[in-house]
Amino acid sequence: MKQVFFFAIIAALVWACGNSSGTDAASGSNAGQDRNGAETVAVVEKADGEALYKTYCVTCHGLYGDMGASGAYNLQESKLSLEERIAVITNGRKAMTAFESLLDKKEIKAVAKYTMKLSEE
Ligand code: HEC
Repeated sequence: MKQVFFFAIIAALVWACGNSSGTDAASGSNAGQDRNGAETVAVVEKADGEALYKTYCVTCHGLYGDMGASGAYNLQESKLSLEERIAVITNGRKAMTAFESLLDKKEIKAVAKYTMKLSEE
C-alpha cells in the first residue's frame, strides 16, 4: 500500500515537471511556433486551391465552374493560361471581384491552378 502511494507521488511529480517544462521553457514555445509556421506554408503549397475556390468562387462560378451566376464565365471552357487567370483573379473583370486584397499571391496562384483542373474534368 505504501508503495502504491509512493508511486502516485512520483507520477504526480513527473507529470508536474513534464507539464511545466512544456510551458515555461522558451525554446519549447519557439519550437511550437516554428512548427506552426511550417504547417501554414505546407498547407498553402499543397495548393489548397480547391478550398479557396470553394470559399470564394463557387458563389458565381459554381462547384464545377459552369454555374455562370452574375454572368460568370464558364471556367470549364476557359482557354486562358495560368498567368492570364492569375491576372483576372487578381484584378477582377467586369462583374468579377478583384481578389487582390482578399488573397495573397500564393493563394491566387493556387486557386488559378485549380481552375485549370476544372476544364480537364
Ligand atoms: C461576383 C461573382 C464572381 C466571383 C465571386 C468570381 N468570379 Fe470569376 N468571373 C466572374 C465573371 C462575371 C467573369 C467574366 C468576366 C468577363 O466577362 O469579363 C469571371 C471570369 C473569370 C475568369 C476568366 C475566364 C476566361 O476564360 O475569361 C477566371 C479565370 C475566373 N473568373 C476565376 C475566378 C476565381 C478563381 C474566383 C475565386 C477566387 C472567381 N472567379 C470568383 C464572376 C465571378
